[in-house]
Amino acid sequence: MKPTKLLLPSRQSSLSQLNRLLNTEKYSSAKYFILTDENTSEHCLPLLVSEVEALQESEFLEIECGEDNKTLEIASQLWQALLDMPADRQSIIVNLGGGMVSDMGGFVAAAFKRGIRYINIPTTLVGMIDAAIGGKTAVNIEGIKNQIGFFYAPEVVCIEPKFLETLPQREWMSGLFEMIKTFMVGDAAMYAELCEKLGDENPTISPSMIRAAAQIKTAIVKTDQYDLGIRKMLNFGHTLGHAIESFSLRHHENPLSHGEAVGIGMVGEAYLSMKKVGFSTDEYNKLLNMVSQMVAMPNYKLTDLEELLAYVAADKKNSNGNIYCTLLHDVGEAMIDVAVSENEICDAFMQLCKK
Ligand SMILES: NC(=O)c1ccc[n+]([C@@H]2O[C@H](COP(=O)([O-])OP(=O)(O)OC[C@H]3O[C@@H](n4cnc5c(N)ncnc54)[C@H](O)[C@@H]3O)[C@@H](O)[C@H]2O)c1
Ligand SMILES: [Zn+2]
Repeated sequence: MKPTKLLLPSRQSSLSQLNRLLNTEKYSSAKYFILTDENTSEHCLPLLVSEVEALQESEFLEIECGEDNKTLEIASQLWQALLDMPADRQSIIVNLGGGMVSDMGGFVAAAFKRGIRYINIPTTLVGMIDAAIGGKTAVNIEGIKNQIGFFYAPEVVCIEPKFLETLPQREWMSGLFEMIKTFMVGDAAMYAELCEKLGDENPTISPSMIRAAAQIKTAIVKTDQYDLGIRKMLNFGHTLGHAIESFSLRHHENPLSHGEAVGIGMVGEAYLSMKKVGFSTDEYNKLLNMVSQMVAMPNYKLTDLEELLAYVAADKKNSNGNIYCTLLHDVGEAMIDVAVSENEICDAFMQLCKK
């Protein structure tokens, strides 16, 4: 994949860095198509077009928000709209939104006329530290997530924390869990700083923390563009987390968000790390206390284990009956592909329910 230019908050705002970049020769014949969902049209588009003069003459494309709309049908409507406008090979799609918009817009760009350029301007915390970076693009099919997609890198990722001012609280929390994960696998000092911040009465996340998390993701992706090895570090918390999320979607009226499920999943995988690969009890307890203040821990019954295990095994089970997880030897020292037995997984799920 071609390298992505990452514009990060510094003394100069990321949007003014983007404005300068788009005024360079390389972009002189570009025509821009800004993709938003209905929330980012309302809350983010005015700031973008007022600060980035080069985008004032853009065409606009809007989709409905929500995971249900990350489909091939919506992608097809966007291709048709691009053809009608018309877009050409010099056109650039500008994805202004969370991971749903960047996954969709990147997917549309990857296939349109065999690939046109695109720029990600993430507006959620998840987008800024994860989804907008790394060139994974995809749509869902028949409700199954990310089944059809490409590895196709954005030309530019522009991270502007100002967009977070209107983000709903629950979306914000989702991003915080992913940030905890990123620092747990990638940077012990930043993890310690974040834990301290989260202990405050009104925790705030500084642009420097967003920048550090985005840089960790960028560095990991650079060494493993196609998700064949160390990028699996970023799956910490996700093996149990996905099962916890699926279980909650099926059984709870107000289901857990992806981020909340990953938060609980990280506690389970930290427990496995402690049992199997030397993760310290103190660090385990610290994570447990932090996560349980952010989200209610589950209350599984023994009879739920079969269903939970089926979700874990669905895509992670190896022919010899083991499940492979990313565990932590220590904060900042992730170990990928650690074999874990079904009994150990069940033990971890039950441990989550101990008050
Ligand atoms: N490609 C990757 O590497 C990758 C990584 C992680 C997640 N993802 C994907 O990202 C998606 C989740 O992304 P997300 O968590 O950013 O959610 P999202 O894009 O669905 O956005 C969440 C909600 O917040 C709203 N919103 C976004 N920005 C806003 C703002 N600034 N102010 C007010 N409202 C705003 C959206 O309209 C939406 O309703 C999933 O589809 C997931 O599969 C992809
Ligand atoms: Zn995640």
